[in-house]
Amino acid sequence: MNLDRIRATLVDNPLALFMPSPAMADFMRSKGRRVLIRAGNRTGKTRHAAAKLAGLMLATPNGRFRAVGVTYQQSISVVSRYLHSFLPPSALAAGCRFSLENGWTHQLIRLTNGATCEIRSQDQTAISHAGSDLDGVWIDEVPPPDVFLECIKRVVSRRGWVWCTLTPIGRPCTWFRRMVEEPGSPWEQVTVTFSRRNCPWYTQTQVDEWLQEAAASPWAYRQTIFGDWEGEVIDRTFTGFDADCIVTDEQLPVEEPFRLGIGIDHGEGIGRQVALLCMWTERQFIVLDEIVNTTTTLPEDDARAIVGRLHDWGWALTDVARIVGDINSAGKMGAGLKVNEVLGDALAAAAGLRARTITILPPDKGKGSVEMGSKLVNAAFMRGTLKVHQGCKGLITSLKNYAPGPKGEDLKHPLDALRYVSQPVLQTWAMSLPSISRLRVR
Ligand SMILES: Nc1ncnc2c1ncn2[C@@H]1O[C@H](COP(=O)(O)OP(=O)(O)O)[C@@H](O)[C@H]1O
Ligand SMILES: [Mg+2]
Repeated sequence: MNLDRIRATLVDNPLALFMPSPAMADFMRSKGRRVLIRAGNRTGKTRHAAAKLAGLMLATPNGRFRAVGVTYQQSISVVSRYLHSFLPPSALAAGCRFSLENGWTHQLIRLTNGATCEIRSQDQTAISHAGSDLDGVWIDEVPPPDVFLECIKRVVSRRGWVWCTLTPIGRPCTWFRRMVEEPGSPWEQVTVTFSRRNCPWYTQTQVDEWLQEAAASPWAYRQTIFGDWEGEVIDRTFTGFDADCIVTDEQLPVEEPFRLGIGIDHGEGIGRQVALLCMWTERQFIVLDEIVNTTTTLPEDDARAIVGRLHDWGWALTDVARIVGDINSAGKMGAGLKVNEVLGDALAAAAGLRARTITILPPDKGKGSVEMGSKLVNAAFMRGTLKVHQGCKGLITSLKNYAPGPKGEDLKHPLDALRYVSQPVLQTWAMSLPSISRLRVR
């Protein structure tokens, strides 16, 4: 065969170039009707399932399939793109095209052999996953239960297959685990660890770098690398913080009387000044929002950002009952003034008030206050009296991962701000509401 012919053959058979991971060999061969690939991130789950599905489409005239991505965007830029890379152009029916902007024409792949594959995503309502009977559905990542049920229904009459390819992270999946692992379950599980051996397409350096990056989030390490169902709790300070401590807009107790507070850790440098906007009712303290500087800022900028964010929530600075700010900071001081006074005046100015009308209180920084404050915060998470709004990304990352030591340095600023503002309230509750349990609060 001359080179041109080899080239032409390969263009027309991209699957011939695909070298599966040794860890996925069982999956690639499996004829199972319920298969779960539970694997670390970047182990090739999505790509292998796309390769297998493309192969099945080519081999099954008039086969009816569906691929379900996570979001509309991911269903195009990953799922559809991978499928496209495995389907020979000559196999595509007339008018069936793929573009990175819009995905497949009408989100439907049509082959000349009559096989089709619908592209869907989990962010569509369960109703949009209803419809036709199919020979197979591939779901990428943990689906919401109602979407999953619709997918299962699709394959009942044709006795079709369902594959799920996922890293058990980012979504509750206890229900999924129970279903897969219950006695007599029809599900086959393939688990794949991220490693050089299992991902030969990466260099050792790439593998090491990713392992290191993943180690920066100990909370999720075992899921990220091994595809474990649960993250192992390694040495983290806020062990009481979990998904139940995160609230959405709908869960805010806006009907109850509440007070507002702001906790500030001044810090030095980008991402280090953190202000937390909080509300508390009779029995719950909630961090609503975080204001983090993304460039080097002056107190005036910080103040404007804080007042602006209050405004976004529909409040004014004068609605805030208590502002607590760190006291030891060198860089941001004006001549002869303490940083809290400078920021207090800047806040007053930003809110159109006179100087010295806003007082930023110093936090409790006595001996042992950090440890004591952290314990209070952790206990409050366990009791259900302390919650964090889902928008507070930085604070949430810190709560999930912080442990004392050099690695914790970058994470501690939002935690300091949280301690400063919540400590006085939590302290009172610790004495007056000793028996509030999580169950009672929920
Ligand atoms: N068999 C393979 N050969 C070459 N590259 C691969 C293979 N499988 C996966 N990859 C590459 O590895 C990366 C991660 O693959 P992907 O399937 O997106 O991982 P996952 O879905 O497990 O996070 C992608 O860049 C993908 O192209
Ligand atoms: Mg993937």
